[in-house]
Amino acid sequence: MPSVEQGPSTWPACAEWAESRLLVIGGGAVAEAMHLPAVLAVLGTEKVRLAEPDEPRRRTLQEKFGVPAAAADFRDLLADSDAALVLTPPHLHESVTVDCLRAGLHVLCEKPLANTASAGRRMIEEAVRAGKLLASGHNYRFFPNRSWVRDRIKDGEFGPDVFVEITEGSPADWPALTGYMFRKELVPGGVMLNNGVHSLDFLLWCLGDSVEEEYRDDSIGGLESNAVLELRFAEGATARLRISRTRNLANQIRVVGDGQSVTLPAGHMNQVIHADGSIEIKSAVQSRQVNDWPSLGRAQIVDFLAAAATATPPRADGQAGLKVVELIERCYLQKTSRQRLPKAPVPGWMW
Ligand SMILES: NC(=O)c1ccc[n+]([C@@H]2O[C@H](COP(=O)([O-])OP(=O)(O)OC[C@H]3O[C@@H](n4cnc5c(N)ncnc54)[C@H](O)[C@@H]3O)[C@@H](O)[C@H]2O)c1
Repeated sequence: MPSVEQGPSTWPACAEWAESRLLVIGGGAVAEAMHLPAVLAVLGTEKVRLAEPDEPRRRTLQEKFGVPAAAADFRDLLADSDAALVLTPPHLHESVTVDCLRAGLHVLCEKPLANTASAGRRMIEEAVRAGKLLASGHNYRFFPNRSWVRDRIKDGEFGPDVFVEITEGSPADWPALTGYMFRKELVPGGVMLNNGVHSLDFLLWCLGDSVEEEYRDDSIGGLESNAVLELRFAEGATARLRISRTRNLANQIRVVGDGQSVTLPAGHMNQVIHADGSIEIKSAVQSRQVNDWPSLGRAQIVDFLAAAATATPPRADGQAGLKVVELIERCYLQKTSRQRLPKAPVPGWMW
C-alpha cells in the first residue's frame, strides 16, 4: 500500500479575493473540464461571467453550469469584472489579454502565454503599464508530486549535477473545439508548443534558465509531432525531454543525482516512485489537497486571485510563461538553421 501524506482541504472562509468578479473568456474544452467547475466552486455563480462567441456552445455551458451572466463578446463584460481567465486558442491570447489589462482586470492566461516571445513581452509590458497581475496557466506546478520533487532539487538533495529526464507521449486526443493544435495558420508549433510547455516549465522552474540547448524534431515544414531536446543549465544540471503526440512513450519524469533517484509518472499528480520501487503519495500543494483536475483548477484560481488581491507573486507569473515560449523559439530557430530532411520520417524512426 502506498503511504499517504495528508493535508488540509478547506478553503479560506473570508479571504481577500472572495468578492472578486471573474470573467471566463473562451468556453472550450479546458473551460468545461477544469476552469468552470473550479471557479464556480470557489466564487459561486453570481461572481462568474462567461464570454463565448459560439452561441449554442455558450448556451450549453450556461445551462450545464448555471452561469447567469454571459455574452458573445468579452468586451461587453469587462466593466463588470475584476479579473479574467483567458482560455481562447493561443493566437488570441495577446489581443484578449491586452484588452483585459487595459480595462483594469488582472489576467490568468492559459498556456502557452503567447504564440511568440515578442507577443509575450508585449503582454508583460502592458501588465506593468496597467499595474495589474499577469499570471501564466502553468497548472502542472500544482501537481503535489512535482512540487515536492522541485523542493528537493532546490534544496540540493540531488546535488548540483542533477539530471532530469522527461519522456512523454501518447496519440493526441484532446477534444479541443477549434482544433488549434493542428492548424498551422493558428499556431507556430506542434507538440512542443502545445504539450511540451508543461515539461519545459517544470525544467526551468526546477533548474533555472538553460544555457545550452540541442534540439531536433520530425517536421519538414509543418508542425512537429515528435521532438527531442537536451538542455544544460548554469550550475551543472542537465536535462532531456523526449516528447511525442503520435506514439505512446514511457510517460515518466526521472530525477537522478548524488546517488539518489526518483521517478514521477508524468501524467499523475500524486505518485512518487522511489528507487527501491516503493510508491509514496503526495497530496498537498500550498496546504491544499490536489488530486484531480477540479481540485487542481481550484488551487490555481485561488493562487491567482490571492496574488492579485495581495500584490504578491502567483505560482507562475507572466515571466515564467515567457521563458518557456522563448526556449521553444530558440529550439525552432535551431531547426530552421539545419537542412530539412527530404521527406517526412516514419514516426519514431529518427529516434
Ligand atoms: N493547462 C492545461 O492543462 C490546458 C489543457 C488544455 C488546453 N489548454 C489551453 O487552453 C486554451 C484553450 O484550449 P481549449 O482546448 O479549451 O480550446 P478550444 O478550441 O476547445 O476552445 C477555445 C474556445 O475559445 C472560443 N473563442 C474563440 N475566440 C474567442 C473570443 N474572441 N472570445 C471568447 N472566446 C473565444 C472558441 O469559440 C472556443 O469555444 C489553449 O491556450 C490551450 O493551450 C491548457
